Amino acid sequence: LKNIKVALLGSGTVGTGVYKLIERQREELPHKVGAGLTVSKVLVRDKNKKREGIDPSVLTDQWEDIITDDEIQIVVEVMGGIEPARTYITEALQAGKNVVTANKDLMAVHGGELLDIASHNGCDLLFEASVAGGIPIIRPLKQCLAGNYISEAMGIVNGTTNFILTKMTHEGMEFDEALALATELGYAEADPTADIEGYDAGRKMAIMASIAFNSRVTFDDVYTEGITNITAKDIKYAEAMGCTIKLLGVAKNTESGIEVRVHPMLIPSDHPLATVNDSFNAVFVHGDAVDDAMFYGRGAGEFPTASAVMGDIIDVARNIQFYCTGRIHCTCYKDLPIKKITE
Ligand code: NAP
Ligand code: HSE
Repeated sequence: LKNIKVALLGSGTVGTGVYKLIERQREELPHKVGAGLTVSKVLVRDKNKKREGIDPSVLTDQWEDIITDDEIQIVVEVMGGIEPARTYITEALQAGKNVVTANKDLMAVHGGELLDIASHNGCDLLFEASVAGGIPIIRPLKQCLAGNYISEAMGIVNGTTNFILTKMTHEGMEFDEALALATELGYAEADPTADIEGYDAGRKMAIMASIAFNSRVTFDDVYTEGITNITAKDIKYAEAMGCTIKLLGVAKNTESGIEVRVHPMLIPSDHPLATVNDSFNAVFVHGDAVDDAMFYGRGAGEFPTASAVMGDIIDVARNIQFYCTGRIHCTCYKDLPIKKITE
């Protein structure tokens, strides 16, 4: 049986989840892929850190060990940040390796350029986990709903802020306590500023708008406002009005251009989005043929995110096994105008 070698860049919350899922699926993978999958290297900053469940012999702190290893066919980037992730992904694609990433910071700014590099080198670059954690949304937009003209995609796309707002609303918890708990549970980014200021949701909305509207939208095009100014008093006033405060992302494809924004909104407490609690996310999509479609599930955390990464790895592995690449990331798109929102 053929064995496809995988390298993980990072073994934090998501990387550890992916490693464990590959182990958990060991018996199943040959039946799903037609080949086995082995994690042969894991890149980390600190090789001496204790890492439960990870074979220490696969750990390395040298990128050269991975990029020069011709047997590695899939590189899974779960380190986060722009650099060195951007350089490593570029070099991996240029070396003919397929890449799976969960990195929305990177994809929201440099996604177009990286997809072009993947395409030129006949490799896959998949990024399902970069939007809404475990919820399948990139692939449904790119494939299943491709027959639609999509006019709107909106919803809750950040687990940390939804967790904080839920705890403040339903348990009277203080903002800082709820943020600390979200961090402990592995929902928050390494620097949670991106979560609470709405940048993380803005990045996801840029990626989602690009795919939904078949255009290219970057984080710079998105208006963002976070939840740091929401107080217990605001939540009480909202309740008194029969409403709930949620951090929503909204992307619209209008006749005058694409507009994308993220900010806290008051929504009626009986609205379906008001019942999306804790780290759960939900995305509504409107297409001219399908009408309304809703996607709901866990938007952050070790296994939900690893689930999305693993789906991409299996897809790439099948492409390798059956000699077909470049299936999903097709770089055709329309250059639609963007309407800049300032407040
Ligand atoms: P994390 O827990 O902070 O883990 C990051 C890992 O990357 C660590 O193992 C770290 O090594 C390694 N790393 C970071 N910089 C490195 C460098 N320069 N060289 C070598 N290794 C490096 O992060 P995470 O929560 O797993 O998130 C990973 C990615 O997934 C991010 O892009 C994040 O936005 C995305 N994501 C996360 C979630 C979630 O729920 N957490 C959900 C969706 C997407 P050390 O262990 O040695 O420090
Ligand atoms: N920090 C992110 C969130 C992780 O809370 O949604 C999932 O992308």
